[in-house]
Amino acid sequence: MLSRRHLLLGGGLAAAGLARAGAAQPLPDAPYTGPFGTVPELQPLRGWLEGQDRLAEGLRVQGRIPAGLRGTLYRNGPGLFERGGQRYAHWFDGDGLLQAWRFGPQGVSHQARFVRTRKFELEQDAGEFLLPAFGTALRAKRPLRASDDVNTANTSVMLQGGKLYALWEGGSAYELDPDSLHTLGPKAWAPELKGMPFSAHPKRELQGPHAGTLWNFGTFMGKLALYQIGADGQLQRSAVLDLPGAPMVHDFAVTEHFIVFLLPPLALDREALKAGRSFVGAMRWQEGGANRVVVIDKADLSIKAQLEMPAELLFHIGNAWDDGQGVIRLDYVHTDHQRFLSGEFNRMLQGQASPELAASHPRLLQIDLIRRRVDIERRSEQVEFPQVDPRVVARRNRYVYYPEARAATWGHGALLSLDLARGLTERFDFGPGVMVEEQLLVPKPGTRREGQGWLVGTGFDSRRQKTFCTIFDAEAISAGPLATVWLPYWAPLGFHGHFAQTA
Ligand SMILES: [Fe+2]
Repeated sequence: MLSRRHLLLGGGLAAAGLARAGAAQPLPDAPYTGPFGTVPELQPLRGWLEGQDRLAEGLRVQGRIPAGLRGTLYRNGPGLFERGGQRYAHWFDGDGLLQAWRFGPQGVSHQARFVRTRKFELEQDAGEFLLPAFGTALRAKRPLRASDDVNTANTSVMLQGGKLYALWEGGSAYELDPDSLHTLGPKAWAPELKGMPFSAHPKRELQGPHAGTLWNFGTFMGKLALYQIGADGQLQRSAVLDLPGAPMVHDFAVTEHFIVFLLPPLALDREALKAGRSFVGAMRWQEGGANRVVVIDKADLSIKAQLEMPAELLFHIGNAWDDGQGVIRLDYVHTDHQRFLSGEFNRMLQGQASPELAASHPRLLQIDLIRRRVDIERRSEQVEFPQVDPRVVARRNRYVYYPEARAATWGHGALLSLDLARGLTERFDFGPGVMVEEQLLVPKPGTRREGQGWLVGTGFDSRRQKTFCTIFDAEAISAGPLATVWLPYWAPLGFHGHFAQTA
């Protein structure tokens, strides 16, 4: 029987220990009650104060939307940060706001609905925060029975077997109606998996014997759950493995033969948690530690190898593939652990911009399972939210697409493609005052080659104070967007999305 409190507090804190933990971090994780800053670029981080849904139809289009681009760009992200005069301390804490940009023959529309999690409904009724959050030190005013009691469903969205799910890292996927965005409730993939974490970065293979299969994981109490879900949306296989010492695992990689985790040397300070710090406020970087590379065999879901590499915090992995001879190539985006653990996201949530560029860069790994070596190539571009053509997930890929930080202002102002085969980049810079979010590659109908598609993604123009969505030809990024669709308002910044193509 799992301890509910341990489940709430995530991964392997009990087993991790704190023998090598660094000094306490000065993370400002108390709820904020002061005024929101006036930095124009940060206004979408105010969130939508009332938790109300929105719909806008017949959106203004600059340029021309390609005739073959039909479907819905679903995006998810934290959309509400304030209740009862208190404001969350951390960007990751807001309630999930599902957005749908629908591209059809009649034009483009935008719909946004908050996910009706149990937490959202309770707090909406009460008009105040009642439950703890990931990065804000809040005491529970309601009983905590399970992880899903604090599930905000705010991180990503996936469509599998025709069903739409809002995803979070620490609890169940929340099923939604793909047309109305009405919340249906938490998903149990099997009775014995009810309430187990189902993370926000599932990987769908579109090649080979597993074509259409979706892989995902969840970490809790020193354990790792693995999920294999068929194209029909039914659970095919699952496993629960021991994985101590991994309190925060955001993303993973899948190749033709393997599942790969990169685990930074993070530990949770249980005394700090007991003293009322938030989950992030109790997280400690273990100086002198290494990243663990855990390689799992897809054939039997057992751990095949564990290796070490230099310590680096990361959130996102772009893609990975193996050569059939025991060598895995993988790209990820490193992030600065000191900035994460010392309050970068906390200042943002008060409307205060950090003057420095985001310190996150591409890393290209070669993991040799035969020679037990990990080689790393470090690149200098300032990027986040890596994406690849969905047709090459878990297979050899050539291109990775990112939002890129170009000027010394907060956020990413350019769109970048990186050609791994030639080491070349191509970019489009949106200019000052514009931020771009994750860019998804949508294959052009009738094409097969990697990169033959459109990049579809959202952004925020701080001078107009409006959110937009652009469409680029992925093979001609520097030529600028083919079309820009404008909302008549700004929407809160999101994290991740999924483009569901229709014929
Ligand atoms: Fe993410």
